[in-house]
Amino acid sequence: MKDKDIATIILAAGKGTRMKSDLVKVLHPILGLPMLSYPLDLSLNKICAQKTIVVIGHQADRVKEIFKDSRITFALQEEQLGTAHAVLKALPYISEFSGTVLILCGDVPLIKGETILSFIEAFNENESVLSVLTAVVEDPSGYGRIIRNSQGWLEKIVEEKDAIEDEKQIREVNTGIFCIKSFFLKEGILEIGRDNAQNEYYLTDLIGIARKKGFRCSAHMIANPIEAMGINTRIDLALATEVLRKEKVKEIMLSGVTLIAPNTCYIEKMVEIGKDTIIYPNCIIQGNTRIGERCTIESNVKITDSKIGNDVTIRSNSVITESLIEDGVSIGPFAHIRPQTKISSKAKIGNFVEVKKSIIGRGSKANHLTYIGDSIIGEDVNVGAGTITCNYDGFKKHQTIIGDRVFVGSNVELIAPVKVGNDALIGAGTTVTKDVPDGALAISRVKQKNIKGWSKRLESKRKALKEEE
Ligand code: UD1
Ligand code: CA
Repeated sequence: MKDKDIATIILAAGKGTRMKSDLVKVLHPILGLPMLSYPLDLSLNKICAQKTIVVIGHQADRVKEIFKDSRITFALQEEQLGTAHAVLKALPYISEFSGTVLILCGDVPLIKGETILSFIEAFNENESVLSVLTAVVEDPSGYGRIIRNSQGWLEKIVEEKDAIEDEKQIREVNTGIFCIKSFFLKEGILEIGRDNAQNEYYLTDLIGIARKKGFRCSAHMIANPIEAMGINTRIDLALATEVLRKEKVKEIMLSGVTLIAPNTCYIEKMVEIGKDTIIYPNCIIQGNTRIGERCTIESNVKITDSKIGNDVTIRSNSVITESLIEDGVSIGPFAHIRPQTKISSKAKIGNFVEVKKSIIGRGSKANHLTYIGDSIIGEDVNVGAGTITCNYDGFKKHQTIIGDRVFVGSNVELIAPVKVGNDALIGAGTTVTKDVPDGALAISRVKQKNIKGWSKRLESKRKALKEEE
């Protein structure tokens, strides 16, 4: 449902000096998503605002590149002269709009959709032209303080740097989130000056301007102050990540997944996991990963941007990146599945096996100490221990193609490019340099020779040497 009466302005032009980073603050990831995606999701998908304008400045091109969505309008604030100045830069894009303008901050990522919706509802019911979302916090330092009059209406917001001692004691603070009637915002903002400690255009000065014009301003307190948290430093970033991580693991458990030790698992926001899957301690599951039902993920496994089917077992200390693992596969312990790999159903990849940019056919096995790179391996193939596809000649990568039902003995090297036909056998220790036809045996090792009585000959040699001494 689109809310026709809301236009959102998200402030995200600041550099985030206190982050001490080369990356603009709003692009720092929280649980795998850039910080800015949280307020954006609120506006686009929870509030369904008629218009969503993001004010950008620092690394504007980078921000635009990451958030390619036709529903977003970007407004440029080249110089960051304060929050009111940022809002001013967005106004040309809502010149025709006459409803309520919702101001969100790109660095306040924990606010919930329901919180904003009830804030909007409360604003629509009271007789004010501006309302601020507030929170009562333990430590108010750094935030603007909320000053209410005796009836509870909002009288002003004082920035920490402009506050007198008494005002600094106030623990009700400005979250940076506002509802403002657009007719008042458009005229009031022009009257804001920069006569304050930071020499900035403060959006919060709108309150004094409203009161001078005889309008009322209100303040709406949120129940859970953690939602108000603004991210200014890496310490805040870690705290916010932990809050969202806890929410994520709860959500996963409630949907039917067993987490043996939820507090040890880092599971990112976009990850989906099917029911009756069991996840052991210390797992990292990242990016756009989807895990099916009834899987077992043992401890210390790291999975990134991969799709895992149903009934898959991933044993301890395995790493899987950008790959597709089909139903019933078993992987690890200590396996490394690198990007662009497909492990087809029922296949088995055992310990100390690395697979890169390869397709492993249905039911095939590589159980021990093997490297498979740039390869296509058919169905029901057995790859013996210590097999290596030699895919790199020092200049280029080459492909190895192995047919169905091939038996590759232990300690085989396949010098790519090379093809092995269906039902072929490769003797242990063979270095395959030429294609192997269907059904053939390829063997390239030196013939064994047994010399009888060798140890006795050695013994007499030793004796003779001792006597000479
Ligand atoms: C601001 C509020 C403060 C509030 C706090 C909540 C003002 C004057 N102060 O302080 O009352 O308690 O947020 O977190 O409004 N931005 C721009 N352009 C600018 C300046 C800021 O886009 O010129 C953006 C920033 O990128 C950021 C947001 O506005 O996303 C808030 O700016 P920031 O500098 O972090 O303000 P605070 O000092 O935290
Ligand atoms: Ca801030």
